[in-house]
Amino acid sequence: MTQPDVTDLIHERLAPFPRDHFLSAGDLNPATARQMLDLADAFVDFNRQSAKSLDIMRGRTVMNLFFENSTRTSASFEIAAKRLGADVTALSPRTSSVAKGETLIDTAATLNAMKPDVLVVRHSASGAAALLSQKVGCAVVNAGDGRHEHPTQALLDMLSMRRAFGDVTSLTVAICGDIAHSRVARSNVALLQMMGARVRLIGPPTLVPGDADRWGCEVFHDMKDGLQGCDVVMMLRLQLERMEGALVPSTREYFRFWGLDREKLAWAKPGAKVMHPGPMNRGVEIDSEVADDLSISLIQDQVEMGVAARMAVLAALSVRREGAAA
Ligand code: NCD
Repeated sequence: MTQPDVTDLIHERLAPFPRDHFLSAGDLNPATARQMLDLADAFVDFNRQSAKSLDIMRGRTVMNLFFENSTRTSASFEIAAKRLGADVTALSPRTSSVAKGETLIDTAATLNAMKPDVLVVRHSASGAAALLSQKVGCAVVNAGDGRHEHPTQALLDMLSMRRAFGDVTSLTVAICGDIAHSRVARSNVALLQMMGARVRLIGPPTLVPGDADRWGCEVFHDMKDGLQGCDVVMMLRLQLERMEGALVPSTREYFRFWGLDREKLAWAKPGAKVMHPGPMNRGVEIDSEVADDLSISLIQDQVEMGVAARMAVLAALSVRREGAAA
């Protein structure tokens, strides 16, 4: 597609975000999720061109506030904001001995005084982004709050699946491994179910939350049983930093039972695709042979879709704010 066409398409599809903030997958509904995916699709084409600058967010300030480590998410928000023409500042807060609530509220007041338009926040406490959103005058995007939610990850994962399969409504998606500590799992379950996909959770009993049967998913504690008939196998990182005590005997033994290799993948549907939000622990939850095989792995696509999905969210939030200011 030539540049004018795709830029026109972006403007045609650009609608206000349905909420003031994007804190959880539940801020979308099937219609608005579809709108965001359609817009993100246009950004994918746009991002494949050599000239990649738009002025949808010209004059706006986006602040990245990551209290937890991040490679993909922080870089993709930064690139997304810059491609939309925004000014971007990244703050790297050090861990502090002050109670989490106080730190956050103090930080929010300070940042708010600098009049940002969007605050992208990642924090180890569930509910941190929602708390910030009540304290600031700008739009807040949750880039991961504890084990609670990571809604832009769910959106980019869905975009990757939609582009690979054409449609997500008839898919059976297996989310495997450390579900208990995963915000990626929680946001994906919510968005996938909203769009009509079937979701299975597969993992050892110590890593599947006790209330998972109330999430509306089928729960399996055996990879062979769980993977049968699945179109997508989404592997999760073993999140050792969130574990209190030893929930797995050893990473070697974990790989034997739960690590995805070719042998286990063969239990899924022929043509099944493999996903992982990154960062991967190779040889722990996933084998390199599977992760790096571009005919089955969507892992690199997920990174590409991350920029497009975040451009869609930031652009739509800006349009909503413009509407509110007018
Ligand atoms: C995930 C996260 O931070 O929640 N990573 C990401 O955003 N790509 C998953 C993880 O850390 O394992």
